[in-house]
Amino acid sequence: MPLSFLLKRRSVVVARLQEPGPDKDEIVELIAGAIRVPDHKALAPWRFLVFSGAARADFGKKIAAIYEHNVGEARTDRAYENELNRFLRAPVVIGVISSPVDSIKVPQSEQLLSAGAACMNILHGARALGYAAQWVTEWIAYDAKVDEVLHLEPHQSVAGFIYLGSSSEIPGERPRVKPQDVMSYWSL
Ligand SMILES: Cc1cc2nc3c(=O)[nH]c(=O)nc-3n(C[C@H](O)[C@H](O)[C@H](O)COP(=O)(O)O)c2cc1C
Repeated sequence: MPLSFLLKRRSVVVARLQEPGPDKDEIVELIAGAIRVPDHKALAPWRFLVFSGAARADFGKKIAAIYEHNVGEARTDRAYENELNRFLRAPVVIGVISSPVDSIKVPQSEQLLSAGAACMNILHGARALGYAAQWVTEWIAYDAKVDEVLHLEPHQSVAGFIYLGSSSEIPGERPRVKPQDVMSYWSL
């Protein structure tokens, strides 16, 4: 089936990702694939932050502190521990940052879509290299203090965190709507 690459596409949830993850050369290859997205006026409105090795635990310490500050007395040891380990759930995490450029011709929404397409290309690229991946946001994508830790500039935002690793399991099917239910032919 010519389209089976898409028709069988599935994410593998973060909890099922294991070592090994992509190595340094493969990460560059994945990002080379990610930036071949449609990009109106070639503005390159995305950046990629790679977390691997010890950086994952270092980031965890920072976000655990932000979690603690955000929730105050609602803090629990378990949730704190989860934050410490958030990026240790996968061998590699790539933060895809929407980084729109001021442009009269290209609306910001188009530039954000291009960053989303970059996320999708990383998912496809990971699969092509034999890895499993999931595109996740969670609260850390939408917290101003986390943005600071990520060194984001005010116009930048997180489009997604792509968790990458290996998985021996083939995920089961996920219910999908029928194409016919979400399509129609336009006519007058
Ligand atoms: C922008 C965006 C953010 C997402 N954030 C999360 C998330 O925080 N947690 C989660 O479990 N899934 C999240 N997902 C969904 C997963 O990426 C994925 O689609 C889901 O696990 C179902 O797998 P599938 O891709 O095989 O349908 C997000 C998807 C998108 C497009």
